[in-house]
Amino acid sequence: MTLRELFSGIAELDSATAGIAAAGVAADSRAVRPGDVFVALAGSKTDGARFVAEAVAAGAAAVVSDHALTETPAVPFLRVANARRALALLAAKIYPRQPGTIAAVTGTSGKTSVAAFTRQIWARLGHAAASVGTVGLVTPARAVYGSLTTPDPVALHRMLDEVAGEGVTHLVMEASSHGLDQHRLDGVRVTAGAFTNLSRDHLDYHATVVAYLAAKLRLFSDLILPGGAAVISADHAESEAVLAVARARHLRVMTVGRGGDGIRLCDVARDGFAQTLTLEHEGRTYVVRLPLAGAFQIENALVAAGLALATGGAPDRVFEALGHLEGASGRLELAGTRHGAPVFIDYAHKPDALAKVLEALRPFARGRLVVVFGAGGDRDAGKRPLMGEIAARGADIVIVTDDNPRGEDAGAIRAAILKAAPGAREIGDRAAAIRAGVALLEPGDVLLIAGKGHETGQIVGDRVLPFSDHAAVAAALAGEGP
Ligand SMILES: Nc1ncnc2c1ncn2[C@@H]1O[C@H](COP(=O)(O)OP(=O)(O)OP(=O)(O)O)[C@@H](O)[C@H]1O
Ligand SMILES: [Mg+2]
Repeated sequence: MTLRELFSGIAELDSATAGIAAAGVAADSRAVRPGDVFVALAGSKTDGARFVAEAVAAGAAAVVSDHALTETPAVPFLRVANARRALALLAAKIYPRQPGTIAAVTGTSGKTSVAAFTRQIWARLGHAAASVGTVGLVTPARAVYGSLTTPDPVALHRMLDEVAGEGVTHLVMEASSHGLDQHRLDGVRVTAGAFTNLSRDHLDYHATVVAYLAAKLRLFSDLILPGGAAVISADHAESEAVLAVARARHLRVMTVGRGGDGIRLCDVARDGFAQTLTLEHEGRTYVVRLPLAGAFQIENALVAAGLALATGGAPDRVFEALGHLEGASGRLELAGTRHGAPVFIDYAHKPDALAKVLEALRPFARGRLVVVFGAGGDRDAGKRPLMGEIAARGADIVIVTDDNPRGEDAGAIRAAILKAAPGAREIGDRAAAIRAGVALLEPGDVLLIAGKGHETGQIVGDRVLPFSDHAAVAAALAGEGP
């Protein structure tokens, strides 16, 4: 491929530059191979422009940036309006194959669950379906544990190209607000987008809630292809704003939920840890037994069903599939029981999610609702007192413990939570906190271990110590440990 082909539609090149051969693209100078285009991004920690000489020494064929370089490189330099966007578009050219149907889901909570559910529904409809996000990549052939909710564009497009080559026709991805804001998805051919909800999160990164909403709205305003679909959970204050953007683009809009007119939730009856839903779609009524607990899983299931309908699924089969959904790992997952009292593991690590999951579990507690949780270090400190307050209000017994203190003093994080949760117990060691919670359980009680979900490590300083809530609960139930 020549630079002309690589840059067509992205930047104008002079004729001398246009004929140069291009091999690939990289934003990390250490990843540059001979013939690659090096894109210098201005990051929050360091400016890629500082590594231009290194990239050129490694064989870069050209350098791209959206700001002036201090030294003129020995290879062609292309100035673009937005280097992050250019990186995404270049990556899509280098790795051109993508599944024909790509859905992206955004919102504060529920992305991982909606992605898992959408993949499961598609699979039941007979499609070769995959999902990518917080829990990694899952395809019919393999599951690769990953960490970033929205990977960098080069890794993302390499992966899309690979799975398309493996025959995956339907792919659903989590679109984080960081990812949308940083243009990481700009080269993805998104045919359907979904919005779950919006609440306080990542405010350390997005200065205001308005900026946060604007970042999420990029999915609807910029990314979904013309003629594509937008599935919107209807029951939130922000739903209207999303709807307005989707309508302005003439997307095929479907709203879901109690206030939805694409899929209307008419009635919910609790049935053990399952729920029987009465739904209305295009004038017909469907009764579905959703094998999951919690109001928020209904929201997630309906958004996923909306995506399946919007991408061509037959209603009968889509609603039938809801009866077979399996929860994503660590999302309101029943991990065991003691004296008949259930122990749930849930990934709630944000105020709204914690409130929702306590609310979801309250009906199951004839006795006491016990919660074990903490808050992460080096992240929005404002959510610590909020979470303390929510736990104190929503649970009967609160045990505050550690959850990825990272570079901060774990005791100080706990103190910030405890200040807002009078009467809470403090047990820093997470395994000990889980043992204490389990030891309290009597018939009728419910225990929630919140914050880690599927995670397999505790981040202390810059080290990741192996830790799993699943393993800790199993050990506590087996009566192991001091
Ligand atoms: N629709 C929802 N509304 C409110 N809370 C939810 C919803 N769905 C899930 N949650 C809560 O949020 C937690 C995380 O859910 P999930 O992993 O699906 O969200 P996410 O959007 O992928 O989060 P992240 O941005 O961390 O990847 C769940 O464990 C649950 O406590
Ligand atoms: Mg996620």
